[in-house]
Amino acid sequence: MNSRKVIAIDGYASSGKSTLAKMLSRHYHLLFIDSGALYRGVTLFALEKGFLKENELDQKAFSGALKGLSLRLEPDTGDLYLNGENVSQKIRFPRVSDHVSTIAALSVVREFLLLQQRQMAHENGLVMDGRDIGTVVFPNADHKFFFTARPEVRAQRRYEELKAQGQETTFKEVLNNLIHRDQTDSCREVAPLRKSDDAIEIDTSEVTTNQVFAHLIEKIEAK
Ligand code: CDP
Repeated sequence: MNSRKVIAIDGYASSGKSTLAKMLSRHYHLLFIDSGALYRGVTLFALEKGFLKENELDQKAFSGALKGLSLRLEPDTGDLYLNGENVSQKIRFPRVSDHVSTIAALSVVREFLLLQQRQMAHENGLVMDGRDIGTVVFPNADHKFFFTARPEVRAQRRYEELKAQGQETTFKEVLNNLIHRDQTDSCREVAPLRKSDDAIEIDTSEVTTNQVFAHLIEKIEAK
């Protein structure tokens, strides 16, 4: 495969996008970008700097402060740096998951990250996963996939991941968060979550990671 290819993976929360995107990036020696980490980084910034308090956002102050925000994804490790601090663990905390979809719905945030995401593909190809990669960020991507899975399956996977990291949460809380985010992400005005007409839909409910991987490779090679 050409080393400048762009592979876009979109889909519902915790449907296996990042795991498979990472596997494809290794297989094809492409850069992997988890665009959700960028949205989580901006949300952490809004929370830590006090722009977002008790579900109230000071949008004017927040929009102004965004200009001075530096977000950097380390290509080899995938670690996210927010103004120089490694925040890779913090961005996965439930506090961030609870607010990220509200912040991601703001056009000022989407514009800020859109440019950065496109610049990442300038030199070389990449695999990027998110919600609007095949529809908005890279509408001309060489390969587009759209991941789905039953909410209970997705919640169980995410719950086990969070438990393994020692985070305090329950299955019900995780399920509610995924349902809430899917709803907010699908209904927002700017770049809503939806399947691009030319994306291949992949349901990961009943299949193993390796089975999905083999299926994706088959589709990519066949094109
Ligand atoms: O890993 P998970 O599927 O749970 O979510 P994520 O990829 O870390 O994304 C977190 C949130 O960021 C999503 O629920 C969206 O609100 C937002 N997001 C977005 O709006 N657009 C993207 N391209 C990626 C993420």
